[in-house]
This record gives sequence, C-alpha cells and structure tokens, in this order.
Amino acid sequence: MPNFVDEILRRRTFAIISHPDAGKTTLTEKLLLYGGAIHVAGAVKSNKIKKTATSDWMEIEKQRGISVATSVMGFDYEGYHINILDTPGHQDFAEDTFRTLTAVDSVIIVIDSAKGVETQTRRLMEVCRMRKTPVMVFMNKMDREGKDPFDLMDDVEQELGIQVTPVTWAHGQGVKFESVFYVHQPDQLNDKEQADMELIHGVYPAFDREAYLAGDLAPVFYGSAYKTIGVEELLQFFVKNAPSPRPVEAIERKVDPMEEGFTGFCFKIHANMDPNHRSCIAFFKICSGRFERNVYYRHVRKDQLMRFSAPTCFMAQKKETVDEAFAGDIVGLPDTGNFKIGDTLTSGENLHFKGLPSFSPEMFKYIENADPMKQKQLDKGIHQLMDEGVAQLFVSQMNGRKIIGTVGQLQFEVIQYRLEHEYSAKCRWENMPMYKACWIEALDEEELRMFKMRKAQYLATDKEGRDVFMADSQYILSMAQNDYKQIRFHFTSEY
Ligand code: G4P
Repeated sequence: MPNFVDEILRRRTFAIISHPDAGKTTLTEKLLLYGGAIHVAGAVKSNKIKKTATSDWMEIEKQRGISVATSVMGFDYEGYHINILDTPGHQDFAEDTFRTLTAVDSVIIVIDSAKGVETQTRRLMEVCRMRKTPVMVFMNKMDREGKDPFDLMDDVEQELGIQVTPVTWAHGQGVKFESVFYVHQPDQLNDKEQADMELIHGVYPAFDREAYLAGDLAPVFYGSAYKTIGVEELLQFFVKNAPSPRPVEAIERKVDPMEEGFTGFCFKIHANMDPNHRSCIAFFKICSGRFERNVYYRHVRKDQLMRFSAPTCFMAQKKETVDEAFAGDIVGLPDTGNFKIGDTLTSGENLHFKGLPSFSPEMFKYIENADPMKQKQLDKGIHQLMDEGVAQLFVSQMNGRKIIGTVGQLQFEVIQYRLEHEYSAKCRWENMPMYKACWIEALDEEELRMFKMRKAQYLATDKEGRDVFMADSQYILSMAQNDYKQIRFHFTSEY
C-alpha cells in the first residue's frame, strides 16, 4: 500500500445541489464556519446569476470571477479533509453542474421546506441516479412555516425516486423551531414528537450505510442554515458516513484511488477574465495516487509529457500553489489551450476516463460570421469556447453550416459577448427549428448507409466526429425511429 492511503481515506469531495434560493450558499458558508475556513458569515458570495442579468454583462463577468474563487472550497474538520465543489445556480448553466457531478464522490441536496422538491433538483437527481452517487438531504428553512415534515419525506421519496430515512428531526417548526434531535437517540420529547418517533420507526428503514453508498437510500436532516440549526449534526454525520474517493471507471479498466500511479481527468475549464491574457484554469479531479508539482505526466489525448510548475488547490476561498495533492482533490492547472473537458492525465498509462457525456442541448442556432475580416478569430474563438464546454458545436453534413447547441438562451449571449471581447470576432445568430439532437448508433452498417443517404439534410457531425441526427420535430424523430429499427437514437453522447 502506498504511504498516502490515510490522506486519501480522510478526503470527502462533494457538491451541494439545490434549486436556486433553497439555501445552498448559506449552508456552504455555515459548513466553512465549522471548518474554521472563514470567520464571519457573509464571506461566501453566491455565484447566482440572477434572472434579470440576461443583458447585464458586467454582472455576468463579475459572477464568472466569483465562481472561480468559489469553484472548490477545501477545509479540514475533525481530521477529515473536505472539498466542496460549487455548482452554478442558474439553470442555463445546468451542463456545468452535470459535469461537476462527475467529479464528486457524494452530494448533499438542499430543499426549501416551504417549497418541497423543485424542478432543478429533480433534474440534478437524475444525474446522481445515473451515476449512483450517494446523496444526503438537508431540509432547510425549518424556521419558516413550511410543509409537514412527513409530507416533505414523501415528496422527496416520490419526486426524487429514492428511499429516505430521517436521521434528525425538528423540535418545533416555524417560529417555534429551535433545535433538532437524532431520531435514534431522542432526548426529552413531547407527546407529538413521541408519536412522530413511533411513526418514523414503523415506516422508515434504519440508516444502512451500504444502501446509502450504493445510492439507494438517502438520509434526511432537518434544520435552518440561516439560523445554524441542524448544520453541525449534518456535518458530523456526513464526515463519518460519506464515502472517501471512490473507484472511477475508465474505458480500459476501473481505477482505484489507492493506486500508486497518478490519474485524473479534466471536468471544467475556466477562462481568464482578462482578455489580454488568454490563459485558463483547467480543473482536474484526481482519481488515483498522488499528484506532484513539477513532475512530468502524460496528457493522453495529445500523447505528450507535461509538467506543472504552479498547480493550485483551493482552501476556503483562497487559491494556493501546492506541491502535492491526492486522490479526491481538485487541482487547478494554468493552461493556455492544451486541455479540453474530458482530457486525462496519468503517470504514463494510456487511459481514458468515461462518464463525461454531452447531453442533448435544448436550444440551437446557426452561428454566422458578422465581420468577414475576422473569420480566423471567429473560428478560433468558437473552438476554444467549445473546448471549455460553454456549448456544443455541430456542423451540418449537408451544407457545412455551424450550429451551436446550448441548454439556455443565456449561453448564446455569453458566447457572442466573449467572442467579441476575447477574440475580437463578431457573430450573428440565426434561429433554426429543432426538436432534439440525438447521437446515433448503428447495429447494421447497410442500414446506416441508407439512413445517411435518405436523411442527409438532418445529419450533422459533433466535435468528436460522431454522427448526430438533428430532428426538427418529434414527428421526424418518431418516423426515423420507426423506419430504422437497426439504428439507436441516444440523447447523451455516451451510451
Ligand atoms: P442559494 O444559494 O441556494 O440560491 O440560496 P441562498 O443561500 O442564497 O439563500 C437564499 C435566501 O434564503 C437568502 O435570503 C437566505 O438568507 C435565505 N435562507 C437560507 N437559509 C435559510 C433558512 O434556513 N431560513 C430562512 N428563513 N432563510 C434562509 P435573501 O433574502 O435572498 O438574501 P439575504 O438578504 O438574506 O442574503
């Protein structure tokens, strides 16, 4: 066993996910306060991009700046090393959140107890379920008049499709809410609470760590992040039960975090805000072993050896150059365009990590050059922004026109703005009718040939050179699915 096993075992890398306004920022801040990483409340800036900001570019730029500082917040607590990965609140950046979820070992879901499960939480839970990520649930804002705690449990169970069991329960609710207690070690209870406990013990299974780790059971906590009630109970339970770094699937094999050799993958690229220095930070999740400063590693896609003199880790909100980091940690590598999302670095092995699927975008537009003198800049800008994962590029196989697919309107505005400010290029958008883009897989080569001949006008190529069927209506898609039984249509790029 390598001598850094203990370092890896004490790591807890997770993300807090929620619908905007449920209290993610407030909870994060309280966790950092417990870890001694910050000393005053109000120090963590929310990276929320408010809905009204769609045309407020300064706001977006400011938010991008904040979000690099809060991308990863590391701190120590009772011998554990905790890394909280931030996820953007705005739903137009859902794809960023999906990718961040590939880099965590577990998740805490925050729910506003007055509102119950909301749309964005439901979508994010789907990704957790797909990846069997262990989840804990924090029912926040119990200091407000909210839904009945049992109704909230039912809501989570049904809406999120996961079995739940309460670990803590609230003494009172709304203005009377003052503390929480462990359901299996209740202190002084009044009659109503006594009755609640009998019901709980009758209805919910006891917490079973194996079931939690398998993603089948979610322990539930009640509290108020704002009033700092129930947060310590959550944190204590979390560090003891949440998983240390888990094995990660690569195409070639499963990689165990305790392996001697270093491996990691890039899940996020953050561009510098300063247009004069087009450098980025590539965020790598370390999957195994130890990463060291100034040691040569293999950039697998480029088959190149590279070393890094200024890797950074993130402690609270400070970025610090580090000499080493371990499986479970996130390192930020300054980059000038060598990396793209999904890239693997290793001690030498030829390895490709899986599980960074592209999701079928929801909005599509043709991108056109609006300044003929700047074609080169435009092409370069588009490619770099796509490598950063801002949106997805497709090229029509029929006429070669470029199509940008995003998950929200805001991205088109961000792309246009950044092309202009960082690449001096101008673009124009042209609407296109589109229902879904699907990656196609053929079980029969001859059928694929026929399909490509007959459906040429609907075919495009993605950035990796894969065929994508661009259905402009549900009817077109259903027809294709009916007529071509040997072709599978997938809504994510990994199937
Ligand atoms: P988010 O990151 O999930 O979007 O939510 P955030 O923490 O920013 O919280 C959203 C709002 O809910 C904030 O109020 C915050 O103070 C409030 N809040 C968070 N936790 C609790 C809680 O346990 N109880 C109550 N009553 N409120 C809570 P705001 O008015 O938008 O901002 P602020 O002026 O308080 O900063």
